[in-house]
Amino acid sequence: MDVPGVVLEARARAARAGFRLSSDDEVGQLLAALAGEVPEGGRVLELGTGVGVGLAWMVSALVAAGRDDVEIVSVESDPAVAALVVAVDWPPFVRLVEGDVLDVLEDLGTFDLVFADAQGGKWEGLDRTIAVLRPGGVLVVDDMRPLSSWSDGQRSKKEMVRRTLLRHPDLDAIELDLGTGVIMSTRH
Ligand SMILES: C[S@@+](CC[C@H](N)C(=O)[O-])C[C@H]1O[C@@H](n2cnc3c(N)ncnc32)[C@H](O)[C@@H]1O
Repeated sequence: MDVPGVVLEARARAARAGFRLSSDDEVGQLLAALAGEVPEGGRVLELGTGVGVGLAWMVSALVAAGRDDVEIVSVESDPAVAALVVAVDWPPFVRLVEGDVLDVLEDLGTFDLVFADAQGGKWEGLDRTIAVLRPGGVLVVDDMRPLSSWSDGQRSKKEMVRRTLLRHPDLDAIELDLGTGVIMSTRH
């Protein structure tokens, strides 16, 4: 798959800023595929905008499909990082929120696709994130493949995320050997 221009711009922004936490291309392509399939009038939520690489993948899929009926809301708590993304000329269907996910989550409504990519709403408050998923909605988390560099604390938090998703009574969840390790869950 070609990497869309808006993603290349986001990667360049990350390089300039020395931001090393952006999504990898495999996760980006998964997000693009899922965003393109959000139902008409649907809503997408990203927790942790970073410098906008994952957001760029989702935006590029919707623009390529000629869709402007979907709203993407993306939340970032670091003001310096958020400022880099606000400066980008995103399509009008993108809404950027600066704040801590744990302070704003319930004010944002419900969603057909959620990419939980911040500590808030993933390591902490995962149940609150699951609660904003609409029936049939899809939740994506990445960075789930264990690394030898993880601390014991990181390992136990990730294992908690994994167990919560795979055993949740409202979710059908699957582990995907993709990018940094993905768990994709659908809410019944
Ligand atoms: C892994 S990066 C996001 C990468 C981005 N989603 C992408 O696809 O390129 C995580 C981001 O979440 C932000 N973050 C961490 N805790 C947060 C919280 N509680 N609320 C909002 N953003 C948070 C960090 O500042 C960081 O920019």
